[in-house]
Amino acid sequence: MLVAVVSLLVILWLIFKSDIRKVQLAWNFPGPTALPIVGNGLQLINKTTLEFVDIIHGYIKNHGKFFRIWIGNELVTVFMEPKDVQQILTDVKLITKAKEYKYLEPWLKTGLLTSTNQKWMLRRKALTPAFHFKILDEFVEIFDKQSSILIEKLKAHDGKGSFNAFPVVALAALDVICETAMGVSLNTQSGSESQYVKNVNELADIVHRRSYDIIERSDMLFKFTKAYKRQQLLISELHKFTDTVISSRRKELKNKKSSGTESIEDEFFGKKKKALLDLLLEIQIDGKYLSDDDIREEIDTFMFEGHDTTASALAFTLYNIAKHEDIQRKCYEEIQNIVGSDGRFNMKTLNEMTYLDLVCKESLRLYPSVPIFGRKVTEEMKVCGKLLPKDTTILILPYYMARDPTIWNNPEEFIPERFSGVKDSDDANIFGYVPFSGGYRNCIGQKFAMLEIKATISKILLNYKIKLEKNFKPQDSLELVIKSKNGIMIQIESRK
Ligand code: HEM
Repeated sequence: MLVAVVSLLVILWLIFKSDIRKVQLAWNFPGPTALPIVGNGLQLINKTTLEFVDIIHGYIKNHGKFFRIWIGNELVTVFMEPKDVQQILTDVKLITKAKEYKYLEPWLKTGLLTSTNQKWMLRRKALTPAFHFKILDEFVEIFDKQSSILIEKLKAHDGKGSFNAFPVVALAALDVICETAMGVSLNTQSGSESQYVKNVNELADIVHRRSYDIIERSDMLFKFTKAYKRQQLLISELHKFTDTVISSRRKELKNKKSSGTESIEDEFFGKKKKALLDLLLEIQIDGKYLSDDDIREEIDTFMFEGHDTTASALAFTLYNIAKHEDIQRKCYEEIQNIVGSDGRFNMKTLNEMTYLDLVCKESLRLYPSVPIFGRKVTEEMKVCGKLLPKDTTILILPYYMARDPTIWNNPEEFIPERFSGVKDSDDANIFGYVPFSGGYRNCIGQKFAMLEIKATISKILLNYKIKLEKNFKPQDSLELVIKSKNGIMIQIESRK
Protein backbone atom coordinates (compact mmCIF):
# COMPACT_ATOMS: atom_id res chain seq x y z
CA MET A 1 0.00 0.00 0.00
CA LEU A 2 2.76 2.40 1.03
CA VAL A 3 4.63 1.61 -2.20
CA ALA A 4 1.50 2.41 -4.22
CA VAL A 5 1.00 5.77 -2.46
CA VAL A 6 4.67 6.75 -2.84
CA SER A 7 4.63 5.69 -6.51
CA LEU A 8 1.48 7.77 -7.10
CA LEU A 9 3.07 10.78 -5.42
CA VAL A 10 6.23 10.39 -7.51
CA ILE A 11 4.16 10.13 -10.72
CA LEU A 12 2.11 13.20 -9.76
CA TRP A 13 5.29 15.08 -8.92
CA LEU A 14 6.82 14.15 -12.29
CA ILE A 15 3.67 15.25 -14.15
CA PHE A 16 3.27 18.50 -12.25
CA LYS A 17 6.96 19.23 -11.56
CA SER A 18 7.12 22.15 -13.95
CA ASP A 19 3.74 23.52 -12.75
CA ILE A 20 4.91 23.34 -9.13
CA ARG A 21 8.09 25.22 -10.07
CA LYS A 22 6.02 27.87 -11.90
CA VAL A 23 3.75 28.39 -8.90
CA GLN A 24 6.73 28.50 -6.57
CA LEU A 25 8.52 31.21 -8.60
CA ALA A 26 5.42 33.26 -9.38
CA TRP A 27 3.94 33.01 -5.87
CA ASN A 28 4.89 36.54 -4.90
CA PHE A 29 4.33 38.21 -8.26
CA PRO A 30 1.55 40.78 -8.08
CA GLY A 31 -1.56 39.93 -10.06
CA PRO A 32 -5.29 39.24 -9.89
CA THR A 33 -6.44 36.50 -7.51
CA ALA A 34 -6.26 33.21 -9.37
CA LEU A 35 -8.29 30.04 -8.81
CA PRO A 36 -6.70 26.58 -8.77
CA ILE A 37 -6.57 24.86 -12.20
CA VAL A 38 -8.30 27.65 -14.20
CA GLY A 39 -6.17 30.50 -12.86
CA ASN A 40 -7.65 33.78 -14.16
CA GLY A 41 -9.11 32.00 -17.18
CA LEU A 42 -12.72 32.52 -16.07
CA GLN A 43 -12.19 36.31 -16.02
CA LEU A 44 -11.20 36.19 -19.70
CA ILE A 45 -13.36 33.45 -21.18
CA ASN A 46 -16.08 34.58 -23.62
CA LYS A 47 -15.14 38.23 -23.24
CA THR A 48 -15.53 40.62 -26.15
CA THR A 49 -12.44 42.46 -27.36
CA LEU A 50 -13.92 45.65 -25.85
CA GLU A 51 -14.34 44.06 -22.41
CA PHE A 52 -10.80 42.75 -22.75
CA VAL A 53 -9.46 46.36 -23.00
CA ASP A 54 -11.04 47.28 -19.66
CA ILE A 55 -9.96 44.09 -17.93
CA ILE A 56 -6.30 44.81 -18.75
CA HIS A 57 -6.74 48.46 -17.69
CA GLY A 58 -8.05 47.15 -14.37
CA TYR A 59 -5.08 44.80 -13.91
CA ILE A 60 -2.64 47.65 -14.55
CA LYS A 61 -4.49 49.96 -12.17
CA ASN A 62 -4.51 47.37 -9.40
CA HIS A 63 -1.11 45.74 -9.85
CA GLY A 64 1.20 48.29 -11.48
CA LYS A 65 3.89 47.96 -14.12
CA PHE A 66 4.73 44.34 -13.57
CA PHE A 67 2.14 41.68 -12.90
CA ARG A 68 1.17 38.13 -13.74
CA ILE A 69 -1.95 36.40 -14.98
CA TRP A 70 -2.59 32.65 -14.90
CA ILE A 71 -4.47 31.21 -17.86
CA GLY A 72 -5.02 27.68 -16.64
CA ASN A 73 -1.53 26.48 -15.74
CA GLU A 74 0.14 28.95 -18.11
CA LEU A 75 2.00 31.85 -16.56
CA VAL A 76 1.70 35.16 -18.41
CA THR A 77 3.73 38.15 -17.21
CA VAL A 78 3.33 41.78 -18.24
CA PHE A 79 6.17 44.33 -18.24
CA MET A 80 5.30 48.02 -18.71
CA GLU A 81 8.49 49.85 -17.62
CA PRO A 82 10.47 51.15 -20.67
CA LYS A 83 13.75 50.03 -19.06
CA ASP A 84 12.39 46.51 -18.71
CA VAL A 85 11.00 46.53 -22.24
CA GLN A 86 14.44 47.53 -23.51
CA GLN A 87 16.11 44.69 -21.61
CA ILE A 88 13.63 42.16 -22.93
CA LEU A 89 13.69 43.22 -26.58
CA THR A 90 17.48 43.39 -26.73
CA ASP A 91 18.13 40.04 -25.02
CA VAL A 92 19.16 37.44 -27.59
CA LYS A 93 17.84 34.70 -25.27
CA LEU A 94 14.37 36.21 -25.58
CA ILE A 95 13.81 36.17 -29.34
CA THR A 96 11.31 33.30 -29.29
CA LYS A 97 7.72 34.41 -29.77
CA ALA A 98 5.05 33.69 -27.16
CA LYS A 99 2.94 30.54 -27.36
CA GLU A 100 0.03 32.59 -28.75
CA TYR A 101 1.92 32.97 -32.07
CA LYS A 102 1.59 29.19 -32.55
CA TYR A 103 -2.05 29.84 -33.37
CA LEU A 104 -0.81 31.69 -36.49
CA GLU A 105 1.37 28.80 -37.60
CA PRO A 106 -1.24 26.71 -39.43
CA TRP A 107 -1.48 29.74 -41.74
CA LEU A 108 1.92 31.48 -41.67
CA LYS A 109 3.94 28.34 -40.81
CA THR A 110 7.32 29.52 -39.54
CA GLY A 111 7.90 32.64 -41.61
CA LEU A 112 9.88 35.58 -40.31
CA LEU A 113 7.25 36.61 -37.74
CA THR A 114 6.85 33.22 -36.05
CA SER A 115 10.22 31.47 -36.55
CA THR A 116 13.04 31.56 -34.03
CA ASN A 117 16.74 30.84 -33.44
CA GLN A 118 18.85 29.79 -36.45
CA LYS A 119 16.00 29.71 -38.96
CA TRP A 120 14.91 33.22 -38.04
CA MET A 121 18.48 34.60 -38.03
CA LEU A 122 19.32 33.24 -41.50
CA ARG A 123 16.00 34.39 -42.96
CA ARG A 124 16.19 37.83 -41.38
CA LYS A 125 19.68 38.32 -42.84
CA ALA A 126 18.58 37.08 -46.25
CA LEU A 127 15.39 39.18 -46.35
CA THR A 128 16.80 42.46 -45.03
CA PRO A 129 18.08 43.59 -48.49
CA ALA A 130 14.50 43.32 -49.78
CA PHE A 131 13.71 46.41 -47.70
CA HIS A 132 16.72 48.40 -48.96
CA PHE A 133 15.85 52.05 -49.61
CA LYS A 134 16.48 51.62 -53.37
CA ILE A 135 13.77 48.99 -53.49
CA LEU A 136 11.46 51.06 -51.30
CA ASP A 137 12.01 53.95 -53.70
CA GLU A 138 10.46 51.82 -56.45
CA PHE A 139 7.56 50.89 -54.19
CA VAL A 140 6.71 54.56 -53.67
CA GLU A 141 5.40 54.56 -57.26
CA ILE A 142 2.99 51.80 -56.27
CA PHE A 143 1.96 53.75 -53.14
CA ASP A 144 1.34 56.76 -55.39
CA LYS A 145 -0.69 54.76 -57.92
CA GLN A 146 -2.85 53.04 -55.31
CA SER A 147 -3.49 56.24 -53.37
CA SER A 148 -4.63 57.91 -56.60
CA ILE A 149 -7.15 55.08 -57.04
CA LEU A 150 -8.21 55.65 -53.41
CA ILE A 151 -8.84 59.34 -54.15
CA GLU A 152 -11.13 58.30 -57.02
CA LYS A 153 -12.99 55.86 -54.74
CA LEU A 154 -13.40 58.54 -52.10
CA LYS A 155 -15.30 60.74 -54.58
CA ALA A 156 -18.36 58.62 -53.76
CA HIS A 157 -18.28 60.10 -50.23
CA ASP A 158 -17.45 63.70 -51.18
CA GLY A 159 -19.89 65.98 -49.33
CA LYS A 160 -22.19 63.03 -48.63
CA GLY A 161 -21.98 62.77 -44.83
CA SER A 162 -20.25 60.26 -42.58
CA PHE A 163 -18.78 56.97 -43.71
CA ASN A 164 -16.50 54.38 -42.17
CA ALA A 165 -13.01 55.03 -43.52
CA PHE A 166 -11.53 51.80 -42.14
CA PRO A 167 -12.66 49.33 -44.85
CA VAL A 168 -11.92 51.88 -47.57
CA VAL A 169 -8.26 52.37 -46.61
CA ALA A 170 -7.95 48.64 -45.83
CA LEU A 171 -8.56 47.85 -49.51
CA ALA A 172 -5.91 50.39 -50.54
CA ALA A 173 -3.43 48.81 -48.11
CA LEU A 174 -4.27 45.36 -49.44
CA ASP A 175 -3.72 46.40 -53.06
CA VAL A 176 -0.37 47.93 -52.09
CA ILE A 177 0.91 44.83 -50.29
CA CYS A 178 -0.30 42.50 -53.07
CA GLU A 179 1.51 44.48 -55.70
CA THR A 180 4.70 45.03 -53.70
CA ALA A 181 4.94 41.57 -52.14
CA MET A 182 3.64 39.40 -54.97
CA GLY A 183 3.72 41.65 -58.02
CA VAL A 184 0.01 41.08 -58.68
CA SER A 185 -2.72 43.68 -58.84
CA LEU A 186 -5.69 42.37 -56.89
CA ASN A 187 -7.59 45.56 -57.71
CA THR A 188 -9.71 45.11 -54.61
CA GLN A 189 -10.22 48.87 -54.52
CA SER A 190 -11.99 48.67 -57.83
CA GLY A 191 -14.14 45.65 -56.93
CA SER A 192 -16.65 45.88 -54.13
CA GLU A 193 -15.78 43.04 -51.73
CA SER A 194 -12.57 41.10 -51.48
CA GLN A 195 -12.87 37.46 -50.46
CA TYR A 196 -9.19 37.54 -49.51
CA VAL A 197 -9.75 40.39 -47.03
CA LYS A 198 -12.80 38.64 -45.58
CA ASN A 199 -10.83 35.42 -45.15
CA VAL A 200 -7.89 37.20 -43.50
CA ASN A 201 -10.19 39.06 -41.12
CA GLU A 202 -12.15 35.98 -40.14
CA LEU A 203 -8.99 33.96 -39.58
CA ALA A 204 -7.43 36.76 -37.51
CA ASP A 205 -10.56 36.70 -35.29
CA ILE A 206 -10.22 32.96 -34.71
CA VAL A 207 -6.50 33.26 -33.89
CA HIS A 208 -7.11 36.17 -31.52
CA ARG A 209 -9.88 34.38 -29.63
CA ARG A 210 -7.63 31.35 -29.17
CA SER A 211 -5.09 33.54 -27.36
CA TYR A 212 -7.37 34.07 -24.37
CA ASP A 213 -10.12 31.44 -24.52
CA ILE A 214 -9.18 28.75 -22.06
CA ILE A 215 -10.80 25.99 -24.16
CA GLU A 216 -9.64 27.08 -27.60
CA ARG A 217 -6.04 27.50 -26.33
CA SER A 218 -5.76 23.73 -26.17
CA ASP A 219 -4.85 22.23 -29.58
CA MET A 220 -6.70 19.07 -28.62
CA LEU A 221 -9.96 20.75 -27.54
CA PHE A 222 -9.81 23.29 -30.36
CA LYS A 223 -10.06 20.45 -32.88
CA PHE A 224 -13.61 19.74 -31.62
CA THR A 225 -14.84 23.30 -32.21
CA LYS A 226 -16.64 24.80 -35.20
CA ALA A 227 -13.92 27.46 -35.32
CA TYR A 228 -11.35 24.76 -36.14
CA LYS A 229 -13.28 23.56 -39.19
CA ARG A 230 -13.72 27.11 -40.35
CA GLN A 231 -10.03 27.83 -39.80
CA GLN A 232 -8.98 24.87 -41.95
CA LEU A 233 -11.21 26.02 -44.79
CA LEU A 234 -10.00 29.62 -44.63
CA ILE A 235 -6.35 28.55 -44.54
CA SER A 236 -6.74 26.26 -47.51
CA GLU A 237 -8.25 29.13 -49.53
CA LEU A 238 -5.55 31.58 -48.49
CA HIS A 239 -2.76 29.10 -49.27
CA LYS A 240 -4.28 28.27 -52.64
CA PHE A 241 -4.19 31.95 -53.54
CA THR A 242 -0.52 32.44 -52.58
CA ASP A 243 0.52 29.15 -54.23
CA THR A 244 -1.02 30.21 -57.52
CA VAL A 245 0.81 33.54 -57.47
CA ILE A 246 4.15 31.92 -56.62
CA SER A 247 3.98 29.27 -59.30
CA SER A 248 2.94 31.70 -62.02
CA ARG A 249 5.74 34.09 -61.02
CA ARG A 250 8.26 31.24 -61.02
CA LYS A 251 7.18 30.30 -64.55
CA GLU A 252 7.42 33.90 -65.71
CA LEU A 253 10.90 34.15 -64.27
CA LYS A 254 12.00 30.92 -65.97
CA ASN A 255 10.68 32.15 -69.32
CA LYS A 256 12.51 35.42 -68.91
CA LYS A 257 15.74 33.67 -68.04
CA SER A 258 15.51 31.34 -71.00
CA SER A 259 14.79 34.28 -73.29
CA GLY A 260 17.89 36.05 -71.87
CA THR A 261 16.37 39.13 -70.20
CA GLU A 262 18.25 40.82 -67.38
CA SER A 263 18.77 39.31 -63.90
CA ILE A 264 16.46 40.09 -61.00
CA GLU A 265 19.06 42.21 -59.30
CA ASP A 266 19.55 44.29 -62.41
CA GLU A 267 15.83 44.66 -62.67
CA PHE A 268 15.62 45.81 -59.06
CA PHE A 269 18.06 48.58 -59.57
CA GLY A 270 17.23 49.16 -63.19
CA LYS A 271 13.98 50.41 -64.68
CA LYS A 272 11.66 47.51 -64.10
CA LYS A 273 9.63 47.28 -60.89
CA LYS A 274 9.91 44.01 -59.06
CA ALA A 275 8.13 42.46 -56.14
CA LEU A 276 9.47 41.07 -52.86
CA LEU A 277 8.55 37.64 -54.23
CA ASP A 278 11.12 38.01 -57.03
CA LEU A 279 13.85 38.50 -54.50
CA LEU A 280 12.68 35.46 -52.54
CA LEU A 281 12.85 33.40 -55.74
CA GLU A 282 16.48 34.40 -56.19
CA ILE A 283 17.96 34.25 -52.69
CA GLN A 284 19.97 31.32 -51.47
CA ILE A 285 20.53 30.28 -47.87
CA ASP A 286 23.49 27.96 -47.31
CA GLY A 287 23.77 27.58 -51.09
CA LYS A 288 20.17 26.43 -51.53
CA TYR A 289 17.26 28.25 -53.18
CA LEU A 290 14.09 28.57 -51.09
CA SER A 291 11.38 26.00 -51.86
CA ASP A 292 7.82 27.03 -52.79
CA ASP A 293 6.75 26.23 -49.21
CA ASP A 294 9.55 28.41 -47.78
CA ILE A 295 8.52 31.25 -50.06
CA ARG A 296 4.85 30.87 -49.26
CA GLU A 297 5.41 31.24 -45.53
CA GLU A 298 7.31 34.50 -46.08
CA ILE A 299 4.83 35.89 -48.59
CA ASP A 300 1.87 34.99 -46.34
CA THR A 301 3.74 36.68 -43.47
CA PHE A 302 4.26 39.86 -45.50
CA MET A 303 0.63 39.79 -46.57
CA PHE A 304 -0.56 39.42 -42.97
CA GLU A 305 1.94 41.76 -41.27
CA GLY A 306 1.96 44.28 -44.09
CA HIS A 307 -1.72 44.81 -44.75
CA ASP A 308 -3.85 44.89 -41.62
CA THR A 309 -1.22 46.80 -39.64
CA THR A 310 -0.93 49.54 -42.25
CA ALA A 311 -4.71 49.68 -42.76
CA SER A 312 -5.18 50.26 -39.03
CA ALA A 313 -2.43 52.91 -38.94
CA LEU A 314 -4.02 54.72 -41.90
CA ALA A 315 -7.51 54.66 -40.38
CA PHE A 316 -6.43 55.91 -36.95
CA THR A 317 -4.17 58.59 -38.48
CA LEU A 318 -7.18 59.85 -40.45
CA TYR A 319 -9.19 59.86 -37.24
CA ASN A 320 -6.59 61.94 -35.41
CA ILE A 321 -6.15 64.35 -38.29
CA ALA A 322 -9.91 64.76 -38.67
CA LYS A 323 -10.21 65.42 -34.95
CA HIS A 324 -7.53 68.14 -34.86
CA GLU A 325 -8.29 70.83 -37.43
CA ASP A 326 -5.15 72.87 -36.67
CA ILE A 327 -2.92 69.83 -37.11
CA GLN A 328 -4.69 69.00 -40.36
CA ARG A 329 -4.08 72.53 -41.65
CA LYS A 330 -0.37 72.34 -40.80
CA CYS A 331 -0.06 68.99 -42.56
CA TYR A 332 -1.86 70.30 -45.62
CA GLU A 333 0.34 73.39 -45.85
CA GLU A 334 3.48 71.29 -45.56
CA ILE A 335 2.34 68.83 -48.24
CA GLN A 336 1.19 71.62 -50.54
CA ASN A 337 4.55 73.40 -50.19
CA ILE A 338 6.48 70.25 -50.97
CA VAL A 339 4.58 68.64 -53.81
CA GLY A 340 2.51 71.51 -55.21
CA SER A 341 -0.86 70.75 -56.68
CA ASP A 342 0.14 67.98 -59.11
CA GLY A 343 0.53 65.81 -56.01
CA ARG A 344 2.99 63.21 -57.27
CA PHE A 345 5.29 61.77 -54.67
CA ASN A 346 8.68 60.21 -54.51
CA MET A 347 10.94 59.10 -51.70
CA LYS A 348 12.61 62.51 -51.48
CA THR A 349 9.39 64.52 -51.17
CA LEU A 350 7.96 62.07 -48.64
CA ASN A 351 11.09 62.35 -46.53
CA GLU A 352 10.74 66.13 -46.60
CA MET A 353 7.31 65.90 -44.95
CA THR A 354 8.70 66.13 -41.45
CA TYR A 355 5.58 67.43 -39.70
CA LEU A 356 3.45 64.70 -41.25
CA ASP A 357 6.06 62.27 -39.96
CA LEU A 358 5.49 63.50 -36.39
CA VAL A 359 1.73 63.20 -36.85
CA CYS A 360 1.98 59.59 -38.08
CA LYS A 361 4.31 58.72 -35.20
CA GLU A 362 2.00 60.25 -32.63
CA SER A 363 -0.95 58.39 -34.08
CA LEU A 364 0.98 55.11 -33.86
CA ARG A 365 1.79 55.95 -30.23
CA LEU A 366 -1.86 56.21 -29.22
CA TYR A 367 -3.09 53.54 -31.64
CA PRO A 368 -0.20 51.12 -32.17
CA SER A 369 -1.32 48.74 -34.92
CA VAL A 370 0.06 45.80 -32.92
CA PRO A 371 -1.29 46.73 -29.48
CA ILE A 372 0.21 43.73 -27.66
CA PHE A 373 3.07 41.43 -28.52
CA GLY A 374 4.85 38.69 -26.65
CA ARG A 375 7.87 36.52 -26.06
CA LYS A 376 8.42 33.12 -24.52
CA VAL A 377 10.99 32.30 -21.85
CA THR A 378 12.63 29.14 -23.24
CA GLU A 379 14.66 28.30 -20.13
CA GLU A 380 14.37 29.41 -16.49
CA MET A 381 16.11 32.78 -16.36
CA LYS A 382 16.24 36.14 -14.63
CA VAL A 383 14.37 38.79 -16.58
CA CYS A 384 14.50 42.35 -15.24
CA GLY A 385 15.33 41.09 -11.77
CA LYS A 386 12.59 38.41 -11.67
CA LEU A 387 13.38 34.72 -11.91
CA LEU A 388 10.91 33.45 -14.52
CA PRO A 389 10.17 29.77 -15.06
CA LYS A 390 10.59 28.07 -18.43
CA ASP A 391 7.62 28.64 -20.78
CA THR A 392 6.51 31.90 -19.15
CA THR A 393 4.87 34.27 -21.62
CA ILE A 394 6.12 37.87 -21.51
CA LEU A 395 3.70 40.47 -22.84
CA ILE A 396 4.63 43.98 -23.97
CA LEU A 397 1.69 46.37 -24.26
CA PRO A 398 2.41 49.39 -26.52
CA TYR A 399 -1.26 50.45 -26.34
CA TYR A 400 -1.21 50.70 -22.54
CA MET A 401 2.29 52.16 -22.33
CA ALA A 402 1.05 55.03 -24.52
CA ARG A 403 -1.53 55.82 -21.85
CA ASP A 404 0.89 55.73 -18.92
CA PRO A 405 1.42 59.20 -17.38
CA THR A 406 4.77 58.15 -15.93
CA ILE A 407 6.05 57.61 -19.48
CA TRP A 408 4.32 60.49 -21.33
CA ASN A 409 3.18 63.96 -20.33
CA ASN A 410 -0.56 64.28 -20.98
CA PRO A 411 -0.54 60.77 -22.44
CA GLU A 412 -4.10 60.82 -23.81
CA GLU A 413 -3.52 64.02 -25.79
CA PHE A 414 -2.52 64.05 -29.43
CA ILE A 415 0.71 66.09 -29.50
CA PRO A 416 2.87 65.39 -32.59
CA GLU A 417 5.56 67.77 -31.32
CA ARG A 418 6.48 65.33 -28.57
CA PHE A 419 8.53 63.55 -31.25
CA SER A 420 10.31 66.68 -32.45
CA GLY A 421 13.32 65.92 -30.28
CA VAL A 422 12.41 68.37 -27.54
CA LYS A 423 9.86 66.70 -25.32
CA ASP A 424 9.38 63.12 -24.25
CA SER A 425 11.93 61.70 -26.62
CA ASP A 426 14.87 61.17 -24.31
CA ASP A 427 16.65 57.82 -24.23
CA ALA A 428 14.63 56.54 -21.28
CA ASN A 429 11.50 56.76 -23.38
CA ILE A 430 12.77 55.15 -26.56
CA PHE A 431 11.49 51.78 -25.40
CA GLY A 432 8.33 53.40 -24.08
CA TYR A 433 7.45 53.85 -27.76
CA VAL A 434 7.46 50.49 -29.52
CA PRO A 435 4.74 50.41 -32.21
CA PHE A 436 7.24 48.65 -34.47
CA SER A 437 8.62 46.62 -31.56
CA GLY A 438 12.37 47.08 -31.06
CA GLY A 439 15.66 45.24 -30.65
CA TYR A 440 16.28 42.03 -32.59
CA ARG A 441 12.73 41.28 -33.68
CA ASN A 442 11.72 44.76 -34.70
CA CYS A 443 9.50 45.27 -37.73
CA ILE A 444 11.40 44.65 -40.95
CA GLY A 445 8.76 46.68 -42.81
CA GLN A 446 8.92 49.82 -40.66
CA LYS A 447 10.31 52.17 -43.35
CA PHE A 448 8.04 50.62 -45.97
CA ALA A 449 5.05 51.22 -43.70
CA MET A 450 5.93 54.82 -42.81
CA LEU A 451 6.39 55.71 -46.49
CA GLU A 452 3.12 54.06 -47.41
CA ILE A 453 1.23 55.83 -44.63
CA LYS A 454 2.73 59.20 -45.54
CA ALA A 455 2.07 58.72 -49.26
CA THR A 456 -1.56 57.75 -48.67
CA ILE A 457 -2.39 60.36 -46.03
CA SER A 458 -0.73 63.17 -47.94
CA LYS A 459 -2.62 62.27 -51.12
CA ILE A 460 -5.91 62.27 -49.20
CA LEU A 461 -5.18 65.61 -47.51
CA LEU A 462 -4.13 67.22 -50.76
CA ASN A 463 -7.49 66.33 -52.26
CA TYR A 464 -9.92 66.45 -49.35
CA LYS A 465 -10.67 68.28 -46.12
CA ILE A 466 -11.64 65.72 -43.54
CA LYS A 467 -13.95 66.08 -40.56
CA LEU A 468 -14.98 63.77 -37.80
CA GLU A 469 -18.60 62.70 -37.41
CA LYS A 470 -20.13 64.70 -34.55
CA ASN A 471 -19.27 63.23 -31.12
CA PHE A 472 -17.53 60.27 -32.72
CA LYS A 473 -15.12 58.34 -30.52
CA PRO A 474 -13.57 55.05 -31.64
CA GLN A 475 -14.23 51.98 -29.53
CA ASP A 476 -10.76 50.52 -29.34
CA SER A 477 -10.74 46.82 -29.92
CA LEU A 478 -7.44 45.12 -29.19
CA GLU A 479 -7.27 42.23 -31.61
CA LEU A 480 -4.10 40.95 -33.30
CA VAL A 481 -4.22 44.40 -34.85
CA ILE A 482 -6.02 47.31 -33.20
CA LYS A 483 -9.45 48.00 -34.72
CA SER A 484 -12.39 50.24 -33.86
CA LYS A 485 -15.64 48.38 -33.16
CA ASN A 486 -17.70 51.35 -34.37
CA GLY A 487 -15.46 52.06 -37.37
CA ILE A 488 -13.70 55.35 -38.09
CA MET A 489 -16.53 57.69 -39.01
CA ILE A 490 -15.39 60.71 -41.02
CA GLN A 491 -16.76 63.15 -43.60
CA ILE A 492 -14.80 64.47 -46.56
CA GLU A 493 -15.08 67.49 -48.79
CA SER A 494 -13.12 68.03 -51.99
CA ARG A 495 -10.62 70.91 -51.96
CA LYS A 496 -11.16 71.53 -55.68
C1 HEM B 1 2.06 50.52 -39.53
C2 HEM B 1 2.47 49.38 -40.02
C3 HEM B 1 3.20 48.33 -39.23
C4 HEM B 1 3.31 48.18 -37.88
C5 HEM B 1 2.77 49.07 -36.78
C6 HEM B 1 4.10 46.98 -37.66
C7 HEM B 1 4.46 46.50 -36.41
C8 HEM B 1 5.21 45.37 -36.21
C9 HEM B 1 5.53 44.83 -34.91
C10 HEM B 1 5.10 45.42 -33.57
C11 HEM B 1 6.27 43.72 -35.10
C12 HEM B 1 6.79 42.80 -34.02
C13 HEM B 1 5.72 41.80 -33.76
C14 HEM B 1 6.04 40.84 -32.68
O1 HEM B 1 7.10 40.84 -32.06
O2 HEM B 1 5.16 40.05 -32.46
C15 HEM B 1 6.42 43.55 -36.52
C16 HEM B 1 7.12 42.52 -37.10
C17 HEM B 1 7.17 42.30 -38.45
N1 HEM B 1 6.64 43.11 -39.44
FE1 HEM B 1 5.65 44.83 -39.16
N2 HEM B 1 4.41 46.43 -38.87
C18 HEM B 1 3.89 47.23 -39.85
C19 HEM B 1 4.02 47.05 -41.21
C20 HEM B 1 4.72 46.04 -41.80
C21 HEM B 1 4.89 45.89 -43.23
C22 HEM B 1 4.36 46.87 -44.28
C23 HEM B 1 5.59 44.72 -43.42
C24 HEM B 1 6.04 44.08 -44.70
C25 HEM B 1 5.94 44.57 -45.88
C26 HEM B 1 5.86 44.16 -42.11
C27 HEM B 1 6.53 42.99 -41.90
C28 HEM B 1 6.88 42.52 -40.64
C29 HEM B 1 7.61 41.27 -40.44
C30 HEM B 1 8.05 40.30 -41.52
C31 HEM B 1 7.80 41.15 -39.06
C32 HEM B 1 8.56 40.05 -38.34
C33 HEM B 1 10.00 40.53 -38.22
C34 HEM B 1 10.93 39.60 -37.48
O3 HEM B 1 10.52 39.00 -36.49
O4 HEM B 1 12.08 39.50 -37.89
N3 HEM B 1 5.32 45.00 -41.16
N4 HEM B 1 5.76 44.56 -37.18
